[in-house]
Amino acid sequence: MIYLKTEEEIELLRENNILVSKTLAEVGRHIKPGVTTKQLDRIIEDFIRSNGATPAFLGYQGYPASACISVNEQVVHGIPSDNIVIKEGDIVSVDVGTFMKGFVGDSAYTFAVGEVAEEVRQLLEVTKEALYRGTAQAKAGNRVGDISAAVQDYAESFGYGVVRELEGHGLGRKMHEEPGVPNYGLRGRGPLLKEGMVICIEPMITMGNRAIVFERDGWTVRTKDRKPAAHFEFAVAIRKNGPDVLTDFSIIENSLR
Ligand code: MF3
Ligand code: CO
Repeated sequence: MIYLKTEEEIELLRENNILVSKTLAEVGRHIKPGVTTKQLDRIIEDFIRSNGATPAFLGYQGYPASACISVNEQVVHGIPSDNIVIKEGDIVSVDVGTFMKGFVGDSAYTFAVGEVAEEVRQLLEVTKEALYRGTAQAKAGNRVGDISAAVQDYAESFGYGVVRELEGHGLGRKMHEEPGVPNYGLRGRGPLLKEGMVICIEPMITMGNRAIVFERDGWTVRTKDRKPAAHFEFAVAIRKNGPDVLTDFSIIENSLR
């Protein structure tokens, strides 16, 4: 069942996703060589709570932290740890969820730590552009497959892998609602997009082969070939005239300068 949201509900979802964007900006300022992903998780939890929300991931299906922090070959769902120390040249994907006023925020950004290899910088840029191209298809009358195909075609045109085992999703009072939003697929296929739907689009793109491995911690997903992967996520409301992006990456990017 796909829940269509009212204007008021979309504004509450926007409030949540703006708080997620501000949280990502806050943690981005602390992503420096020597910091542990556990320390970053603590910063995220404190920031969310001091802004009157609760971390939506904490306790979700038993998840043990406030954020997913995935470094280099980790694709998504990396569990923050005292043993994972950030170093120069790393890429760090941070996925944050909030719960406030009955609704959920969920967005992600992959940060570069200092100078990263040119090919890694390109992976980040292409993954973000794939998200933007998918988002451009998120309008009433299109289908989920239009988003999926836009993401897949752009990423694969660079020879990158598109992870298929995980996908985007509807967003509302629950973090995962229908419909699923795969990052691969065919134009004109899949559920029809209607005014008032809110979805998360979240490409997970690998520099090498798209094969992944689920680590024995029960959460962490990494590339099988241990090459880097990137992940960016937007929450988007479907409107007649086009996408209404509820996440704001400019808050993150302005704070990095
Ligand atoms: N953004 C992720 C998703 O859409 C985060 C969920 S992971 C968990 O699936 F930590 F919350 F479990
Ligand atoms: Co999500």
